[in-house]
Parts: sequence; C-alpha cells; structure tokens
Amino acid sequence: MWDQRYDVEEYVYGTDPNQFLREHLSFLTPGMRVLSVADGEGRNGVWLAEQGMQVLSVDASCVAQTKARKLADERQVQMEFECADLLNWHWKPNQFDAVAAIFIQFANAAERKNLFAGLHTTLKSGGILLLHGYTPRQLEYRTGGPGSVEQLYTIPMLRALLDGFDILELREHDSHISEGTYHHGMSALVDVVAKKC
Ligand SMILES: C[S@@+](CC[C@H](N)C(=O)[O-])C[C@H]1O[C@@H](n2cnc3c(N)ncnc32)[C@H](O)[C@@H]1O
Repeated sequence: MWDQRYDVEEYVYGTDPNQFLREHLSFLTPGMRVLSVADGEGRNGVWLAEQGMQVLSVDASCVAQTKARKLADERQVQMEFECADLLNWHWKPNQFDAVAAIFIQFANAAERKNLFAGLHTTLKSGGILLLHGYTPRQLEYRTGGPGSVEQLYTIPMLRALLDGFDILELREHDSHISEGTYHHGMSALVDVVAKKC
C-alpha cells in the first residue's frame, strides 16, 4: 500500500519538514546522530541532515527511499538510508542522540508497544524522542492519517508507552497543517518531547 502511494512523481507529504519538528530544533545540536523512523520520502530526515545532524533514515517503502535519496542529492546532504520493516527490526542499543518519529501510526497496540520499546532501546541515555501524530478526534476532521482509532494516540496511551522516559512536553492541539496531498487541513495533533532516563 505504501509503495503504491509513493509511486508517483510528486512528494505526497511535500518536501518541507514537518512543522512540529522544525519548531523543536532547539532540542538538537549539530553533529548529533539522529534516527528518522518511518521517514517516507525523506522530508524530515533530509532537513535534519541539512541542520548538521548525522541521519539514518529508515522506512519500509523502498519506493519512498528512492525519492528520499533523490531529495538528499538535490539538497546536497550526506546521510544514511535503510529500507526495513521497523516492526521486525533489530534495534541496536544506545545508538542515537535523538529519534524523530513523525506520523508513524502504522502499528496496532501490540506492535506499538514493541515499537516504542525499540525507540527507547536505540536511544542513548539522555537521548531525545521527538514524536508527533494524530489523536482520535482526527477521525472527525478526516484530513489525513489512519482511519482506525486503534492506530491513533491518546494522552494516557502515550504516558504508558513512554515508561523509561522523562516527558518534557506532551500537548494536544488542533492546528491547520499543509503537508502535500495526504496531510492537509485542520488536524487533531499531539506533540511529544521525551528524554530517555
Ligand atoms: C504517514 S507516512 C509518514 C512519512 C514521514 N514520517 C513523513 O512525515 O513524511 C508513514 C510512513 O510509515 C512507513 N511505514 C509503514 N509501515 C512501516 C513499517 N512496518 N516499518 C517501517 N516503516 C513503515 C510508510 O512507508 C510511510 O512512509
């Protein structure tokens, strides 16, 4: 389904970085090793590399990764790519200073628990998680994101998943976003900044 979505000329989520990520750049320092999970066509990973981070961009869609590599070439940044299924990935421990997890809502409850455990494992102690996604009220807006409530984040769900992190920011808000064809319009969002204890 993802390869099919990405198999078009245009960048379906645009080529500009996600607004939340841009607004939280102050949590990152150039030179940091950053993992951009489910990075799609690379708009976030490439932008992080442009800010001086050492980025590994991972996504299950190799079609998306081909476009991400093209974007990196156009922007003249060096970064690493890996086409892999994050639900069956080996999360190497203590590898990254930060993880960017922008709209990674493809998992069911059991998968999500393992996914968040992986994010925790792969961060170094004191490492920063920047996570952003949709809440269940997004089903009323229907301006992007999964159609199943099971995949959407609630605050209690995130608090439970963030065991082992210090939560620095956890905020729901309704905002207008304009990110290509698939994320467009008033949206029910949640922002998370958390530090691995
Ligand atoms: C809504 S898109 C967001 C892409 C990107 N983070 C962005 O904000 O532009 C969700 C991404 O999750 C990826 N994805 C879905 N299932 C995955 C899996 N099991 N492992 C890795 N990536 C996956 C898709 O290929 C897609 O690129």
